[in-house]
Amino acid sequence: MNHKKNILITGGAGFIGSHVVRRFVTCYPNYLIINLDCLTYAGNLENLTDIESCSNYRFVKQDICEALSLDQVFKEFKISDVIHLAAESHVDRSIEDPLSFVNTNVIGTVNLLNSAKKHWGNEPDHLFYHISTDEVYGSLGETGFFTESTAYDPQSPYSASKAASDHFARAYYNTYKIPIVISNCSNNYGPNQFPEKLIPLCINNILNSKPLPIYGKGDNIRDWLFVEDHAAAIDTIFHSGKLGATYNIGGLNEWTNLQLVETLCDVVDKKINQPIGTSRSLITFVTDRSGHDHRYAIDASKLQTELNWNPSLEFEEGLSKTVDWYLANEDWLKSVTSGNYQEYYKQLYNNRK
Ligand code: NAD
Ligand code: TYD
Repeated sequence: MNHKKNILITGGAGFIGSHVVRRFVTCYPNYLIINLDCLTYAGNLENLTDIESCSNYRFVKQDICEALSLDQVFKEFKISDVIHLAAESHVDRSIEDPLSFVNTNVIGTVNLLNSAKKHWGNEPDHLFYHISTDEVYGSLGETGFFTESTAYDPQSPYSASKAASDHFARAYYNTYKIPIVISNCSNNYGPNQFPEKLIPLCINNILNSKPLPIYGKGDNIRDWLFVEDHAAAIDTIFHSGKLGATYNIGGLNEWTNLQLVETLCDVVDKKINQPIGTSRSLITFVTDRSGHDHRYAIDASKLQTELNWNPSLEFEEGLSKTVDWYLANEDWLKSVTSGNYQEYYKQLYNNRK
């Protein structure tokens, strides 16, 4: 069968990528979706068991740092479009090992841009959609929002590597006319998120009666968006975004880390029928993350007014769905936390002392 588009989605076995792959495979049977992922600790094909046998889905185990093999994939599948999510994504890990972030996030992205340039030339009707983060804009004080024209000011090795990759995507648009679009999204939460990020880490620790580590005083602020709303925004921007443009995506949903974890504790207590306050008693203040960004907040009005996207879920509903998913998928949690997960956390907290 000839497909209308042959879309390469990188990082499709990860948290956000798996939701994007599922959405595109199920909503667009006339697209062939090629999920390219090298399956790091954060990539897990169990995230996609429900769609793995769909006729418009393929999986390729491949590292984006290997340029020659990427060219082969472009050739073999006649790739028409790219949605690029593959990345090292955790700030704490970037502080321990910045170079792996440079390799995957910067060099890997340039490898993909080079393959697109080689295989597409100046042909019309292609798109390289680069998925990025609001962290490239740096840290806000108590007021204000990041807009698309906020100057880049990345503060962590993770955000510096994502900022560099955004700059390369724009440079390829400007220099080689590669048709690109970029979006910068706030913190995502939802099913299938690896339990190193705040929300799933806390759920996992509650279920194992372990301390809930709050960095510093817990007064840092993040804007949280349900992952399926991010996938919907990506769908909208992929189909209707303006070439060369940037779109900010956010939930208008700011919480301090402490407020968020306390709320999460109460939601879990209710759902597992234990006295309210049981999980809160696990909250433990620990040494702050080095260079910890104080506040992120997104102005998503460009996406809302130009492309008519809006978040669909209230935070309470999203949090409830998320907790339900982790409670129903304790095997998934056990499987992704086998291996050197415990060892990693021992090391991380030792390095902080
Ligand atoms: P994740 O860590 O859950 O998944 C990353 C995926 O990329 C994994 O499946 C991993 O195996 C794969 N990968 C890593 N290195 C690779 C390589 N060298 N070659 C091929 N595959 C590789 O990440 P996520 O949270 O789903 O984030 C996805 C994208 O969205 C990233 O680009 C991230 O910067 C961006 N983003 C994330 C958030 C968030 O809150 N999680 C917010 C805004 C933007
Ligand atoms: P995280 O989920 O790692 O996302 P990001 O650093 O990309 O925003 O962290 C969200 C916030 O929660 C951030 O301010 C750091 C804080 N945090 C903790 O307080 N304790 C933890 O164990 C983790 C992982 C994060």
